[in-house]
Amino acid sequence: MARCSPAAGPSSAELAATAIFVGGSDVAAAEAVFARVRATFFGPVRVGVLLDPSGANTTAAAAVIAAARHLPCAAGGEGVVLGGTGPVGQRVARLLARRGVAVTLVSRDAGRAAATVAGIRRAVPGVAIEPAGLAEVVAAGADGALARAQLVVAAGAAGACLLTAEQRRALAATVCIDLNAVPPAGIEGIAPTDKARADGAALLYGALGVGSTKMKIHRAAIARLFAADAPALDADELLALGDTL
Ligand SMILES: NC(=O)c1ccc[n+]([C@@H]2O[C@H](COP(=O)([O-])OP(=O)(O)OC[C@H]3O[C@@H](n4cnc5c(N)ncnc54)[C@H](OP(=O)(O)O)[C@@H]3O)[C@@H](O)[C@H]2O)c1
Repeated sequence: MARCSPAAGPSSAELAATAIFVGGSDVAAAEAVFARVRATFFGPVRVGVLLDPSGANTTAAAAVIAAARHLPCAAGGEGVVLGGTGPVGQRVARLLARRGVAVTLVSRDAGRAAATVAGIRRAVPGVAIEPAGLAEVVAAGADGALARAQLVVAAGAAGACLLTAEQRRALAATVCIDLNAVPPAGIEGIAPTDKARADGAALLYGALGVGSTKMKIHRAAIARLFAADAPALDADELLALGDTL
């Protein structure tokens, strides 16, 4: 019987047929596992690794791709991410900021928004991103970040309504995306199935409208995992992959 010798290690055929998916619902723990996995590889002993706990990375990448279909996100635009402290919102904010969008990251608690923004600035120095409290942003009206934004993404918890229909209609935003699929909507008046549905000057996306792109990115990521260069796929790499689809 053939025996695997620990000294010999895995064969290149075994490595080529192996990949690691880091999922789960504890995003911080998943990130730690992802980092540990990458640090454990050495020389040619490495395999593809995908980080997508709670679907946060693929969902965030899909939301940014939906927005980019209608907005030249690369430079100069403004975006607001409601529910920006959660796993999905943080990633949407980080991806947009890295693409040159001036982002306002919103939480019900301004201190939590500030702590999240500090983390993003550490991860991606030099990006334009500011924290804000939900109540202040809504109350600021025509002078505030919400009124200036071309893009508003709601990434609040399932079933948490963050903007009323009236507040949404008062926005000048070209694209409004609600990633919450559980009623009531995160932005009242956006249905989960909306996919670039026009309402006045705005184009609306719901969670399922973004979900088909999310699934395409997920499938492409699984295929990419087995490539010879053994990629490590975090949010940025998934967005780049999504751009090619
Ligand atoms: N389409 C998909 O495939 C897909 C995949 C993953 C997630 N999602 C959806 O994307 C959204 C974001 O996911 P997530 O995992 O990042 O969400 P989450 O962590 O559950 O919540 C995001 C943020 O919402 C705020 N929040 C929590 N409870 C709230 C409440 N009762 N009222 C108002 N705000 C509240 C919190 O921010 P503050 O406390 O700082 O305000 C929290 O950080 C969810 O609706 C989720 O269902 C969709």
